[in-house]
Amino acid sequence: MLRFGRLLALPRQRPGLRREYAAAATGPVNIIDLPETHQMLRQTCRNFAESDLKPMAAVTDKEHRYPKEQVLKMGELGLMGIATPEENGGTGLDALAYAIAMEEISRGCASAGVILSAHNSLYLSPINAYGRPEVIDKFVRPFTSGERIGCFALSEPGNGSDAGAASTTAKLVGDEYVLNGTKAWITNGHEAEGIVVFATTDKAKKHKGISAFVVPKPTPGLSVGKKEDKLGIRGSSTTYLIFEDCRIPKGNLLGKEGEGFKIAMSTLDGGRIGIAGQAVGIGQAALDVAVEYASKREAFGAPLTKLQSIQIKLADMAVKLEASRLLMYKAALLKDAGRPYTKEAAMAKLSASEASTFIAHQSIQILGGMGYVSDMPAERHYRDARITEIYEGTSEIQRLVIAGNLLKEYDIK
Ligand code: CAA
Repeated sequence: MLRFGRLLALPRQRPGLRREYAAAATGPVNIIDLPETHQMLRQTCRNFAESDLKPMAAVTDKEHRYPKEQVLKMGELGLMGIATPEENGGTGLDALAYAIAMEEISRGCASAGVILSAHNSLYLSPINAYGRPEVIDKFVRPFTSGERIGCFALSEPGNGSDAGAASTTAKLVGDEYVLNGTKAWITNGHEAEGIVVFATTDKAKKHKGISAFVVPKPTPGLSVGKKEDKLGIRGSSTTYLIFEDCRIPKGNLLGKEGEGFKIAMSTLDGGRIGIAGQAVGIGQAALDVAVEYASKREAFGAPLTKLQSIQIKLADMAVKLEASRLLMYKAALLKDAGRPYTKEAAMAKLSASEASTFIAHQSIQILGGMGYVSDMPAERHYRDARITEIYEGTSEIQRLVIAGNLLKEYDIK
Protein backbone atom coordinates (compact mmCIF):
# COMPACT_ATOMS: atom_id res chain seq x y z
CA MET A 1 0.00 0.00 0.00
CA LEU A 2 1.19 3.48 -0.75
CA ARG A 3 2.13 5.49 2.31
CA PHE A 4 2.57 9.10 3.04
CA GLY A 5 5.91 10.36 4.18
CA ARG A 6 6.16 12.83 7.04
CA LEU A 7 3.35 14.84 8.54
CA LEU A 8 2.38 17.46 6.04
CA ALA A 9 3.83 20.84 6.74
CA LEU A 10 1.43 23.62 7.43
CA PRO A 11 0.59 26.92 5.81
CA ARG A 12 2.66 29.56 7.57
CA GLN A 13 0.16 32.30 7.07
CA ARG A 14 -2.65 30.50 8.92
CA PRO A 15 -1.50 29.68 12.46
CA GLY A 16 -4.95 28.37 13.42
CA LEU A 17 -4.99 26.07 10.46
CA ARG A 18 -1.44 24.96 11.22
CA ARG A 19 -2.55 23.87 14.71
CA GLU A 20 -5.47 21.94 13.27
CA TYR A 21 -3.19 20.22 10.79
CA ALA A 22 -0.71 19.43 13.52
CA ALA A 23 -3.44 17.66 15.45
CA ALA A 24 -4.19 15.39 12.52
CA ALA A 25 -2.44 12.04 12.52
CA THR A 26 -0.67 10.59 9.53
CA GLY A 27 -0.46 6.94 8.73
CA PRO A 28 -1.07 4.50 5.93
CA VAL A 29 -3.44 5.90 3.38
CA ASN A 30 -5.29 4.60 0.44
CA ILE A 31 -7.12 6.39 -2.30
CA ILE A 32 -10.51 5.70 -0.76
CA ASP A 33 -10.04 7.66 2.46
CA LEU A 34 -7.87 10.71 2.11
CA PRO A 35 -5.83 11.55 5.21
CA GLU A 36 -7.51 13.99 7.57
CA THR A 37 -4.92 16.63 6.72
CA HIS A 38 -5.87 16.51 3.05
CA GLN A 39 -9.56 16.53 3.83
CA MET A 40 -9.00 19.72 5.83
CA LEU A 41 -7.01 21.25 3.01
CA ARG A 42 -9.81 20.37 0.60
CA GLN A 43 -12.40 22.04 2.86
CA THR A 44 -10.24 25.16 3.26
CA CYS A 45 -9.78 25.48 -0.52
CA ARG A 46 -13.46 24.74 -1.14
CA ASN A 47 -14.59 27.44 1.31
CA PHE A 48 -12.21 29.93 -0.31
CA ALA A 49 -13.39 28.98 -3.80
CA GLU A 50 -17.04 29.41 -2.78
CA SER A 51 -16.53 32.76 -1.08
CA ASP A 52 -13.81 34.39 -3.19
CA LEU A 53 -13.51 32.68 -6.57
CA LYS A 54 -16.92 31.50 -7.75
CA PRO A 55 -18.59 34.91 -7.33
CA MET A 56 -15.98 36.65 -9.53
CA ALA A 57 -15.26 33.91 -12.08
CA ALA A 58 -17.71 35.25 -14.69
CA VAL A 59 -16.28 38.81 -14.54
CA THR A 60 -12.71 37.51 -14.60
CA ASP A 61 -13.60 35.63 -17.76
CA LYS A 62 -15.62 38.36 -19.43
CA GLU A 63 -13.12 41.14 -18.79
CA HIS A 64 -9.99 38.99 -19.25
CA ARG A 65 -9.01 40.27 -15.81
CA TYR A 66 -6.03 38.88 -13.90
CA PRO A 67 -7.49 38.00 -10.46
CA LYS A 68 -4.77 39.79 -8.48
CA GLU A 69 -6.63 40.05 -5.19
CA GLN A 70 -7.58 36.37 -5.29
CA VAL A 71 -4.00 35.34 -6.13
CA LEU A 72 -2.80 37.29 -3.08
CA LYS A 73 -5.36 35.46 -0.95
CA MET A 74 -4.15 32.15 -2.36
CA GLY A 75 -0.71 33.31 -1.21
CA GLU A 76 -2.06 33.98 2.29
CA LEU A 77 -3.46 30.46 2.37
CA GLY A 78 -0.03 29.07 1.51
CA LEU A 79 -1.15 27.89 -1.94
CA MET A 80 1.33 29.95 -3.99
CA GLY A 81 4.16 27.86 -2.60
CA ILE A 82 2.13 24.79 -1.69
CA ALA A 83 4.68 22.18 -2.79
CA THR A 84 7.81 24.27 -2.19
CA PRO A 85 9.85 22.96 0.74
CA GLU A 86 9.51 24.94 3.97
CA GLU A 87 13.26 25.58 4.01
CA ASN A 88 12.82 27.43 0.69
CA GLY A 89 9.99 29.55 2.09
CA GLY A 90 7.10 27.38 0.92
CA THR A 91 4.30 25.44 2.59
CA GLY A 92 5.96 22.06 2.15
CA LEU A 93 2.89 20.05 1.25
CA ASP A 94 2.98 17.06 -1.09
CA ALA A 95 1.75 16.31 -4.63
CA LEU A 96 -1.55 14.89 -3.36
CA ALA A 97 -2.24 18.15 -1.53
CA TYR A 98 -1.31 20.12 -4.65
CA ALA A 99 -3.69 18.05 -6.79
CA ILE A 100 -6.53 18.53 -4.31
CA ALA A 101 -5.91 22.28 -4.13
CA MET A 102 -5.84 22.47 -7.94
CA GLU A 103 -9.18 20.69 -8.13
CA GLU A 104 -10.92 22.89 -5.56
CA ILE A 105 -9.50 26.19 -6.84
CA SER A 106 -10.37 25.31 -10.46
CA ARG A 107 -13.89 24.30 -9.41
CA GLY A 108 -14.30 27.92 -8.30
CA CYS A 109 -12.37 29.57 -11.14
CA ALA A 110 -10.39 27.80 -13.86
CA SER A 111 -8.28 30.91 -14.53
CA ALA A 112 -7.13 31.02 -10.91
CA GLY A 113 -6.41 27.30 -11.28
CA VAL A 114 -4.03 27.68 -14.19
CA ILE A 115 -2.26 30.65 -12.58
CA LEU A 116 -1.71 28.46 -9.51
CA SER A 117 -0.55 25.52 -11.58
CA ALA A 118 1.91 27.26 -13.92
CA HIS A 119 3.41 29.09 -10.94
CA ASN A 120 3.80 26.06 -8.64
CA SER A 121 4.55 23.14 -10.87
CA LEU A 122 6.17 24.73 -13.91
CA TYR A 123 8.05 27.64 -12.32
CA LEU A 124 8.83 26.92 -8.63
CA SER A 125 9.24 23.17 -8.90
CA PRO A 126 12.23 23.03 -11.34
CA ILE A 127 13.98 25.86 -9.46
CA ASN A 128 13.50 24.04 -6.15
CA ALA A 129 14.88 20.87 -7.72
CA TYR A 130 17.76 22.24 -9.80
CA GLY A 131 18.49 25.83 -8.66
CA ARG A 132 21.65 26.85 -6.82
CA PRO A 133 21.05 28.21 -3.28
CA GLU A 134 21.46 31.85 -4.43
CA VAL A 135 18.97 31.25 -7.27
CA ILE A 136 16.47 29.79 -4.80
CA ASP A 137 16.95 32.84 -2.54
CA LYS A 138 16.21 35.18 -5.42
CA PHE A 139 13.61 33.30 -7.46
CA VAL A 140 11.75 31.10 -4.97
CA ARG A 141 11.58 32.80 -1.55
CA PRO A 142 10.04 36.08 -2.82
CA PHE A 143 7.61 34.10 -5.01
CA THR A 144 5.53 32.22 -2.44
CA SER A 145 3.23 34.99 -1.19
CA GLY A 146 1.23 35.63 -4.39
CA GLU A 147 2.81 39.06 -4.85
CA ARG A 148 5.19 37.78 -7.52
CA ILE A 149 4.47 34.95 -9.88
CA GLY A 150 6.48 32.92 -12.37
CA CYS A 151 6.08 31.18 -15.71
CA PHE A 152 7.63 28.44 -17.87
CA ALA A 153 8.90 29.09 -21.39
CA LEU A 154 9.39 25.89 -23.38
CA SER A 155 7.18 26.13 -26.50
CA GLU A 156 8.09 28.31 -29.45
CA PRO A 157 6.15 29.56 -32.47
CA GLY A 158 7.73 26.73 -34.49
CA ASN A 159 7.58 23.89 -31.94
CA GLY A 160 5.11 22.78 -29.29
CA SER A 161 4.68 19.02 -29.04
CA ASP A 162 8.22 18.44 -30.37
CA ALA A 163 9.76 20.05 -27.32
CA GLY A 164 13.28 18.85 -28.23
CA ALA A 165 13.33 21.07 -31.33
CA ALA A 166 13.77 24.33 -29.36
CA SER A 167 15.59 26.95 -31.46
CA THR A 168 16.07 29.67 -28.82
CA THR A 169 19.81 29.87 -28.17
CA ALA A 170 21.89 30.55 -25.07
CA LYS A 171 25.57 31.37 -25.53
CA LEU A 172 28.05 31.65 -22.68
CA VAL A 173 29.96 34.93 -23.01
CA GLY A 174 32.24 35.59 -20.06
CA ASP A 175 30.18 35.28 -16.91
CA GLU A 176 26.86 35.60 -18.68
CA TYR A 177 24.54 33.63 -20.93
CA VAL A 178 23.15 35.59 -23.85
CA LEU A 179 19.66 34.44 -24.92
CA ASN A 180 18.10 34.94 -28.35
CA GLY A 181 14.78 33.61 -29.63
CA THR A 182 11.01 33.72 -29.17
CA LYS A 183 8.88 31.66 -26.81
CA ALA A 184 5.14 31.19 -27.30
CA TRP A 185 2.02 30.15 -25.34
CA ILE A 186 3.41 31.34 -22.03
CA THR A 187 0.84 31.10 -19.24
CA ASN A 188 1.34 33.98 -16.74
CA GLY A 189 3.72 35.59 -19.29
CA HIS A 190 2.31 39.07 -18.80
CA GLU A 191 2.47 39.25 -14.98
CA ALA A 192 5.43 36.92 -14.35
CA GLU A 193 8.53 38.37 -12.74
CA GLY A 194 10.50 35.14 -13.05
CA ILE A 195 10.75 32.81 -16.04
CA VAL A 196 12.11 29.28 -16.39
CA VAL A 197 13.41 29.31 -19.96
CA PHE A 198 14.65 26.45 -22.13
CA ALA A 199 17.27 27.27 -24.77
CA THR A 200 19.86 25.35 -26.71
CA THR A 201 23.48 25.72 -25.70
CA ASP A 202 24.59 23.24 -28.40
CA LYS A 203 22.26 22.79 -31.36
CA ALA A 204 24.25 19.88 -32.81
CA LYS A 205 23.31 17.79 -29.75
CA LYS A 206 19.57 18.26 -30.41
CA HIS A 207 17.57 17.62 -27.21
CA LYS A 208 20.78 16.82 -25.31
CA GLY A 209 21.96 20.38 -26.07
CA ILE A 210 18.99 22.05 -24.35
CA SER A 211 19.62 23.83 -21.05
CA ALA A 212 17.30 25.45 -18.51
CA PHE A 213 17.71 28.96 -17.07
CA VAL A 214 15.92 31.37 -14.77
CA VAL A 215 15.43 34.86 -16.18
CA PRO A 216 14.14 37.78 -14.12
CA LYS A 217 11.56 40.08 -15.66
CA PRO A 218 12.26 42.86 -16.41
CA THR A 219 15.71 42.25 -17.92
CA PRO A 220 17.16 44.32 -20.80
CA GLY A 221 16.69 42.40 -24.05
CA LEU A 222 13.51 40.67 -22.85
CA SER A 223 10.15 41.87 -24.11
CA VAL A 224 6.60 40.59 -23.82
CA GLY A 225 4.77 40.07 -27.10
CA LYS A 226 1.14 39.70 -28.05
CA LYS A 227 -1.35 38.67 -25.37
CA GLU A 228 -3.56 35.92 -26.81
CA ASP A 229 -7.34 36.36 -27.00
CA LYS A 230 -8.41 32.90 -25.82
CA LEU A 231 -11.49 30.68 -25.87
CA GLY A 232 -11.29 30.03 -22.12
CA ILE A 233 -9.19 30.57 -18.96
CA ARG A 234 -9.36 34.23 -19.96
CA GLY A 235 -8.32 35.61 -16.55
CA SER A 236 -4.83 34.17 -17.07
CA SER A 237 -2.49 35.76 -19.58
CA THR A 238 -0.90 33.83 -22.45
CA THR A 239 1.87 35.69 -24.24
CA TYR A 240 4.94 35.55 -26.40
CA LEU A 241 8.31 36.27 -24.77
CA ILE A 242 11.05 37.68 -27.00
CA PHE A 243 14.74 37.44 -26.13
CA GLU A 244 17.12 39.71 -28.02
CA ASP A 245 20.67 39.59 -26.67
CA CYS A 246 19.18 39.10 -23.22
CA ARG A 247 22.02 38.64 -20.71
CA ILE A 248 21.70 36.70 -17.48
CA PRO A 249 24.32 35.62 -14.92
CA LYS A 250 25.75 32.18 -15.66
CA GLY A 251 24.68 31.01 -12.19
CA ASN A 252 21.06 31.21 -13.38
CA LEU A 253 21.58 27.92 -15.22
CA LEU A 254 19.41 25.19 -13.66
CA GLY A 255 21.32 21.94 -13.21
CA LYS A 256 24.04 21.47 -15.82
CA GLU A 257 24.29 22.44 -19.47
CA GLY A 258 22.43 19.86 -21.59
CA GLU A 259 20.10 18.76 -18.77
CA GLY A 260 17.30 21.08 -19.88
CA PHE A 261 15.21 18.55 -21.82
CA LYS A 262 15.08 16.14 -18.89
CA ILE A 263 14.30 19.03 -16.53
CA ALA A 264 11.43 20.06 -18.84
CA MET A 265 10.06 16.50 -19.12
CA SER A 266 10.22 15.76 -15.39
CA THR A 267 8.69 19.17 -14.62
CA LEU A 268 5.83 18.40 -17.01
CA ASP A 269 5.27 15.02 -15.32
CA GLY A 270 4.42 16.89 -12.10
CA GLY A 271 2.57 19.61 -14.00
CA ARG A 272 0.27 17.06 -15.61
CA ILE A 273 -1.01 16.01 -12.17
CA GLY A 274 -1.95 19.66 -11.63
CA ILE A 275 -3.74 19.91 -14.98
CA ALA A 276 -5.59 16.70 -14.13
CA GLY A 277 -6.68 18.51 -10.96
CA GLN A 278 -7.76 21.54 -12.94
CA ALA A 279 -9.77 19.37 -15.34
CA VAL A 280 -11.43 17.45 -12.49
CA GLY A 281 -12.33 20.77 -10.85
CA ILE A 282 -13.87 22.19 -14.02
CA GLY A 283 -15.72 18.90 -14.62
CA GLN A 284 -17.04 18.94 -11.05
CA ALA A 285 -18.25 22.53 -11.49
CA ALA A 286 -20.03 21.57 -14.74
CA LEU A 287 -21.68 18.58 -13.03
CA ASP A 288 -22.73 20.79 -10.08
CA VAL A 289 -24.48 23.23 -12.43
CA ALA A 290 -26.20 20.42 -14.31
CA VAL A 291 -27.53 18.74 -11.14
CA GLU A 292 -28.72 22.00 -9.63
CA TYR A 293 -30.49 23.07 -12.82
CA ALA A 294 -32.01 19.64 -13.44
CA SER A 295 -33.39 19.51 -9.89
CA LYS A 296 -35.25 22.80 -10.38
CA ARG A 297 -36.29 22.86 -14.03
CA GLU A 298 -39.50 20.98 -14.80
CA ALA A 299 -40.42 19.20 -18.04
CA PHE A 300 -43.28 16.80 -18.71
CA GLY A 301 -44.72 17.63 -15.29
CA ALA A 302 -41.68 16.79 -13.15
CA PRO A 303 -38.12 18.01 -12.42
CA LEU A 304 -35.58 16.98 -15.08
CA THR A 305 -33.87 14.78 -12.48
CA LYS A 306 -36.85 12.40 -12.72
CA LEU A 307 -36.21 11.79 -16.42
CA GLN A 308 -34.15 8.67 -17.18
CA SER A 309 -32.48 10.37 -20.15
CA ILE A 310 -31.08 12.99 -17.75
CA GLN A 311 -30.18 10.44 -15.07
CA ILE A 312 -28.18 8.44 -17.62
CA LYS A 313 -26.24 11.57 -18.57
CA LEU A 314 -25.55 12.41 -14.91
CA ALA A 315 -24.34 8.86 -14.25
CA ASP A 316 -21.92 8.93 -17.19
CA MET A 317 -20.60 12.31 -16.11
CA ALA A 318 -20.09 11.17 -12.51
CA VAL A 319 -18.30 7.95 -13.48
CA LYS A 320 -15.81 9.66 -15.78
CA LEU A 321 -15.16 12.30 -13.15
CA GLU A 322 -14.56 9.85 -10.33
CA ALA A 323 -12.33 7.60 -12.44
CA SER A 324 -10.20 10.59 -13.39
CA ARG A 325 -9.98 11.78 -9.79
CA LEU A 326 -8.73 8.34 -8.72
CA LEU A 327 -6.12 8.30 -11.50
CA MET A 328 -4.99 11.73 -10.32
CA TYR A 329 -4.70 10.51 -6.72
CA LYS A 330 -2.71 7.50 -7.87
CA ALA A 331 -0.24 9.59 -9.87
CA ALA A 332 0.18 11.99 -6.93
CA LEU A 333 0.65 9.18 -4.41
CA LEU A 334 3.29 7.55 -6.62
CA LYS A 335 5.13 10.88 -6.90
CA ASP A 336 4.97 11.36 -3.13
CA ALA A 337 6.28 7.83 -2.59
CA GLY A 338 9.29 8.63 -4.84
CA ARG A 339 8.20 6.03 -7.39
CA PRO A 340 8.01 6.44 -11.20
CA TYR A 341 4.81 8.21 -12.19
CA THR A 342 5.31 9.51 -15.76
CA LYS A 343 2.76 7.09 -17.23
CA GLU A 344 0.22 7.61 -14.43
CA ALA A 345 0.48 11.42 -14.64
CA ALA A 346 -0.17 11.21 -18.39
CA MET A 347 -3.11 8.84 -17.77
CA ALA A 348 -4.59 11.17 -15.17
CA LYS A 349 -4.22 14.23 -17.40
CA LEU A 350 -5.60 12.44 -20.45
CA SER A 351 -8.56 10.96 -18.62
CA ALA A 352 -9.42 14.10 -16.67
CA SER A 353 -9.16 16.49 -19.61
CA GLU A 354 -11.32 14.32 -21.86
CA ALA A 355 -13.78 13.74 -19.01
CA SER A 356 -13.94 17.46 -18.34
CA THR A 357 -14.83 18.39 -21.93
CA PHE A 358 -17.37 15.54 -22.04
CA ILE A 359 -18.99 16.62 -18.77
CA ALA A 360 -19.06 20.29 -19.76
CA HIS A 361 -20.64 19.31 -23.10
CA GLN A 362 -23.30 17.19 -21.36
CA SER A 363 -23.90 19.95 -18.82
CA ILE A 364 -24.83 22.35 -21.62
CA GLN A 365 -27.04 19.64 -23.13
CA ILE A 366 -28.93 19.30 -19.85
CA LEU A 367 -29.38 23.05 -19.53
CA GLY A 368 -30.45 23.38 -23.17
CA GLY A 369 -30.68 27.02 -24.25
CA MET A 370 -29.69 28.16 -20.75
CA GLY A 371 -26.43 26.26 -21.21
CA TYR A 372 -25.60 28.26 -24.30
CA VAL A 373 -25.82 31.74 -22.80
CA SER A 374 -23.51 33.46 -20.34
CA ASP A 375 -26.27 33.97 -17.72
CA MET A 376 -25.25 30.51 -16.50
CA PRO A 377 -21.67 29.26 -16.01
CA ALA A 378 -22.09 26.08 -18.12
CA GLU A 379 -20.80 27.69 -21.33
CA ARG A 380 -17.72 29.03 -19.48
CA HIS A 381 -16.94 25.58 -18.08
CA TYR A 382 -17.15 24.22 -21.64
CA ARG A 383 -14.71 26.86 -22.92
CA ASP A 384 -12.38 26.48 -19.90
CA ALA A 385 -12.31 22.68 -20.11
CA ARG A 386 -11.09 22.61 -23.70
CA ILE A 387 -7.55 23.84 -22.99
CA THR A 388 -6.86 20.96 -20.60
CA GLU A 389 -6.68 18.67 -23.66
CA ILE A 390 -4.00 20.90 -25.16
CA TYR A 391 -1.54 22.49 -22.73
CA GLU A 392 1.21 20.64 -20.86
CA GLY A 393 1.05 18.12 -23.68
CA THR A 394 -1.90 17.41 -25.95
CA SER A 395 -4.05 14.29 -25.53
CA GLU A 396 -2.13 12.80 -28.47
CA ILE A 397 1.19 13.37 -26.64
CA GLN A 398 -0.25 11.83 -23.44
CA ARG A 399 -1.18 8.72 -25.44
CA LEU A 400 2.38 8.52 -26.81
CA VAL A 401 3.82 8.83 -23.31
CA ILE A 402 1.42 6.18 -21.95
CA ALA A 403 2.06 3.76 -24.83
CA GLY A 404 5.84 4.28 -24.66
CA ASN A 405 5.94 3.50 -20.94
CA LEU A 406 3.46 0.62 -21.28
CA LEU A 407 5.58 -1.05 -23.96
CA LYS A 408 8.67 -0.62 -21.77
CA GLU A 409 6.84 -2.59 -19.06
CA TYR A 410 6.43 -5.38 -21.63
CA ASP A 411 10.14 -5.01 -22.48
CA ILE A 412 9.24 -4.09 -26.05
CA LYS A 413 11.40 -1.40 -27.69
N1 CAA B 1 11.41 12.51 -17.36
C1 CAA B 1 12.75 12.54 -17.54
N2 CAA B 1 13.35 12.30 -18.72
C2 CAA B 1 12.56 12.01 -19.78
C3 CAA B 1 11.17 11.95 -19.66
C4 CAA B 1 10.59 12.21 -18.40
N3 CAA B 1 9.27 12.16 -18.22
N4 CAA B 1 10.65 11.64 -20.87
C5 CAA B 1 11.67 11.49 -21.71
N5 CAA B 1 12.83 11.71 -21.03
C6 CAA B 1 14.18 11.61 -21.57
C7 CAA B 1 14.41 10.23 -22.20
O1 CAA B 1 14.84 9.31 -21.24
C8 CAA B 1 15.47 10.53 -23.23
O2 CAA B 1 16.72 10.58 -22.58
P1 CAA B 1 18.10 10.18 -23.39
O3 CAA B 1 18.26 11.18 -24.46
O4 CAA B 1 19.16 10.26 -22.33
O5 CAA B 1 17.88 8.80 -23.91
C9 CAA B 1 15.13 11.94 -23.68
O6 CAA B 1 14.35 12.52 -22.64
C10 CAA B 1 14.37 11.97 -24.97
O7 CAA B 1 13.23 11.17 -24.82
P2 CAA B 1 12.28 10.81 -26.05
O8 CAA B 1 13.12 10.19 -27.15
O9 CAA B 1 11.13 10.04 -25.54
O10 CAA B 1 11.85 12.28 -26.53
P3 CAA B 1 11.02 12.77 -27.78
O11 CAA B 1 11.78 13.81 -28.46
O12 CAA B 1 10.53 11.57 -28.56
O13 CAA B 1 9.79 13.52 -27.07
C11 CAA B 1 7.68 13.77 -26.04
C12 CAA B 1 8.99 12.95 -26.19
C13 CAA B 1 6.86 12.95 -25.07
C14 CAA B 1 6.93 13.91 -27.35
C15 CAA B 1 8.03 15.15 -25.46
O14 CAA B 1 8.65 15.97 -26.41
C16 CAA B 1 6.80 15.88 -24.92
O15 CAA B 1 6.37 15.63 -23.79
N6 CAA B 1 6.24 16.81 -25.70
C17 CAA B 1 5.13 17.66 -25.23
C18 CAA B 1 5.69 18.92 -24.64
C19 CAA B 1 4.67 19.64 -23.83
O16 CAA B 1 4.00 19.08 -22.97
N7 CAA B 1 4.59 20.94 -24.05
C20 CAA B 1 3.75 21.81 -23.27
C21 CAA B 1 4.55 23.02 -22.88
S1 CAA B 1 4.15 23.79 -21.36
C22 CAA B 1 2.68 24.56 -21.65
O17 CAA B 1 1.75 23.90 -21.95
C23 CAA B 1 2.57 26.05 -21.52
C24 CAA B 1 2.06 26.53 -20.24
O18 CAA B 1 2.47 27.62 -19.83
C25 CAA B 1 1.02 25.81 -19.47
